[in-house]
Amino acid sequence: MDTGTIQTFDPSSDSDSFRAALGCFTTGVTVITTDSAEGPVAIVANSFASVSLDPPLVLWSPAKSSKRFEHFVGSRRFAVHVLGADQRDICAAIINSKTAISDVPTTTSHCGMPIIDEALASFECNLEATHDAGDHVIVIGRVTKAHHSAGDPLVFHGGKYASLRTD
Ligand SMILES: Cc1cc2nc3c(=O)[nH]c(=O)nc-3n(C[C@H](O)[C@H](O)[C@H](O)COP(=O)(O)O)c2cc1C
Repeated sequence: MDTGTIQTFDPSSDSDSFRAALGCFTTGVTVITTDSAEGPVAIVANSFASVSLDPPLVLWSPAKSSKRFEHFVGSRRFAVHVLGADQRDICAAIINSKTAISDVPTTTSHCGMPIIDEALASFECNLEATHDAGDHVIVIGRVTKAHHSAGDPLVFHGGKYASLRTD
């Protein structure tokens, strides 16, 4: 195990160290999709979290600084996809372009959301609530339909991608 000197810092004046500390928390990688006047759009997010089983609620947080912010904060419906270890190319394409989702194999849900084929899990959501939260907004979705399959997840830790063998 890598051990080192513990750094203590004030996150309000040292955002690089704050970001590094947050990066110690290992997450999955999701793609959020929605429809827009420009057609289907997508964003990569690791702020996804489960919130409630009954009713079924999830959350994620778009950054106010994102050029895609207005698409996602204003949308009444969206879908969250948990990416598999073999879907890094989808992740890279969507980081480059919000409309790259048009080139990804998807199936259109009954309410018009693009659902990424072979994502490990997907959650179709109606917007439940938004909460202002500093430089982000917390978006809570009520899950109307979900899908999942077996497979190894794509993970993100310390600013890097990794894959996790689950067997
Ligand atoms: C692993 C990973 C997780 C991310 N998580 C979020 C997130 O939760 N919320 C967010 O607004 N942006 C997040 N981003 C950044 C967006 O994907 C960002 O929108 C994208 O890099 C392009 O910037 P733009 O939206 O200004 O065009 C994440 C990026 C990566 C690589």
